[in-house]
Amino acid sequence: MAALPLFLRPVLLAAAACLSVSVSIISNAGVAEAGFGFGYHGGDDDWSKSRVASIVTEKLYSDMFKHKDDTACPAHGFYNYTSFLRAAERFPAFGGDGDAATRKREVAAFLAQISHETTGGWATAPDGPYAWGLCFKEEISPASNYCDNTTTEWPCVAGESYHGRGPIQLSWNFNYGPAGQALGFDGLGNPEVVAGDPEVAFKTALWFWMTPRSPKPSCHDVMVGRYRPTDADVAANRTAGFGLTTNIINGGIECGKTGVPQVDDRIGFFRRYCELLGGVDVGPNLDCTQQQPYSS
Ligand SMILES: *[C@@H]1O[C@H](CO)[C@@H](O)[C@H](O)[C@H]1NC(C)=O
Ligand SMILES: *[C@@H]1O[C@H](CO)[C@@H](O)[C@H](O)[C@H]1NC(C)=O
Ligand SMILES: *[C@@H]1O[C@H](CO)[C@@H](O)[C@H](O)[C@H]1NC(C)=O
Repeated sequence: MAALPLFLRPVLLAAAACLSVSVSIISNAGVAEAGFGFGYHGGDDDWSKSRVASIVTEKLYSDMFKHKDDTACPAHGFYNYTSFLRAAERFPAFGGDGDAATRKREVAAFLAQISHETTGGWATAPDGPYAWGLCFKEEISPASNYCDNTTTEWPCVAGESYHGRGPIQLSWNFNYGPAGQALGFDGLGNPEVVAGDPEVAFKTALWFWMTPRSPKPSCHDVMVGRYRPTDADVAANRTAGFGLTTNIINGGIECGKTGVPQVDDRIGFFRRYCELLGGVDVGPNLDCTQQQPYSS
């Protein structure tokens, strides 16, 4: 399946173009250290909840996703703070690995990538292009049902469509199947739940972020310093940094070339969130211009 991108970009191109019509705009290119014990209050709070909640407060969440509840955004009312925290509880290592700066940088990277995937922003948008993450929850006018019937392990269910849904715009039967199996929902028979329940939606995005799928490492490992490149990775310039998470998500379309606006959009969100998280350093290798995608 290496030839197929995990998540198809035309999805958000279509989605953002659509929003741009509705608000008469031109769309952008879319769409262990100090940590232990930190913020742990015992009782009902578990580690992850307290950690992620201490990094992204409800106020900060609102500032980051300033326009997610605008009526212009198809996802208005969907992506609430509580559902984000509950989903994060399922993945205790998210925002829980490394020193304070590392944990913030990882959370910023995740939020940046899901923002690009769901952006309603454009160049001259109110509050700037990077204040419009989490505007979409479902692909508008899918070009197909994203059924890859050569993936016999995850057979499509007749009548179901595996188009982009949720913060990471989960797409294809070969992603819905394993995501559902890992998270406890019927990904192949009931893919709709990803756009119907914000907690499930966030869980699919975090599942993608936290799960390595050979030959790709997990985005989590890349952002917390656990990634160990193979010789082939070194030869392909796939070294750690935010740009490598872009390569993991959509490298086949966006990496190893110059002038890709989606890459800049992802970086724009990342810079803004690092700033909002107290000016945490963005780290090396922001883009993937010189990296070979995994599929080649
Ligand atoms: C797989 O899908 C293609 C295109 O949708 C179709 O032409 C083909 O017959 C399908 N193959 C199987 C085994 O279902
Ligand atoms: C957030 O979403 C959940 C569904 O996961 C819902 O039960 C809850 O009422 C929502 N909270 C707010 C404040 O909208
Ligand atoms: C790796 O990056 C260097 C520049 O830093 C570039 O010259 C080289 O072509 C890149 N290698 C590959 C395989 O893209």
